Amino acid sequence: MNEDRNIVVEMEGIEVTYTSKPTLTFKGGPRFERKSVTVFRDLDLKIREGEFTTIVGPSGCGKSTLFRLILGSQFPTAGKVLIDSEPVENVTPKTGIVYQRYSLFPHLTVANNIALGPLLQQTGPLESLFRSIGPRYRRIFQEAREEAFALLKNVGLEEADGNKFPHELSGGMRQRVAIAQATIMKPKVLLMDEPFGALDHSTREDMQLFILEQAKKNNLTVVFVTHDLDEALFLGTRIIGLSQYWKADSASDQIGARIVTDRDVTTALGGTHPRPTSVVDAPTFRELRHKVHEDVLDPKHRQHIAAFDHDHTDSTSPK
Ligand SMILES: Nc1ncnc2c1ncn2[C@@H]1O[C@H](COP(=O)(O)OP(=O)(O)O)[C@@H](O)[C@H]1O
Ligand SMILES: [Mg+2]
Repeated sequence: MNEDRNIVVEMEGIEVTYTSKPTLTFKGGPRFERKSVTVFRDLDLKIREGEFTTIVGPSGCGKSTLFRLILGSQFPTAGKVLIDSEPVENVTPKTGIVYQRYSLFPHLTVANNIALGPLLQQTGPLESLFRSIGPRYRRIFQEAREEAFALLKNVGLEEADGNKFPHELSGGMRQRVAIAQATIMKPKVLLMDEPFGALDHSTREDMQLFILEQAKKNNLTVVFVTHDLDEALFLGTRIIGLSQYWKADSASDQIGARIVTDRDVTTALGGTHPRPTSVVDAPTFRELRHKVHEDVLDPKHRQHIAAFDHDHTDSTSPK
């Protein structure tokens, strides 16, 4: 589909090992012991511009860890992470993030929540504190607010909603604001961690259509974590299954989670994206869902590394 598109996210040879603080044990005399757990070893991942990548995996496989590496709020034990060909060294406006809850500041109005990113980018926190009454600050603030109000319409909200506080909005409206807040910064990649997980069923369906429309319209590069396979396969152009349930030749090689599934969903489901909502009832959809469920989420079904289902053109062959 897209070999000529830019690579936005690149991870190479990633290892993440968490080491706990020393604890005192009395086995064979008193001593301090650290426990360590390796979540990833030798993980490679490339994501291109305009791709809608959904990530699924059992709880504890490392989805949030992967997010924090891309976001730049955590660094790998080994390996490198690049966004737009530059090493990720801290959290920057290159990445936008939407969480299931708490993406918005409760004490700021909707418009100010959306305007906050551009405001801080142009003024910095110190200027916000000390010069917030100056004319330059007021002008930047005013421009950011105008942009925020213009964005409100794009995300299906009314002008009057701009002056409300987050607690006055429904869950779906709040997530629309969170998406506006993230996209106003024109991030290279939009990270979404279960963004619709707290919504009721019909709002969730509305929001799925909404994010697809936004992604298409603005050519967003989205990385979307969900535990709902139907959602992952309905939304994604690519699905990545991260799992600790896999098998190597020797137990000592079998460490951490791997990308056990990397599929081109658009090709598998008939070539169009966004897809009609009726696709979830198609036999090809049910079959794909069953296969991903088995390969990624079923602890009894551990695939050998050589049998991983990697048909996406950007997938790296498992090693
Ligand atoms: N800060 C941390 N310190 C120690 N272990 C951690 C830390 N963060 C995550 N882990 C461990 O790493 C593994 C992956 O966690 P996480 O990335 O949160 O997975 P997921 O989001 O897929 O549930 C889990 O076993 C978790 O206990
Ligand atoms: Mg998590």
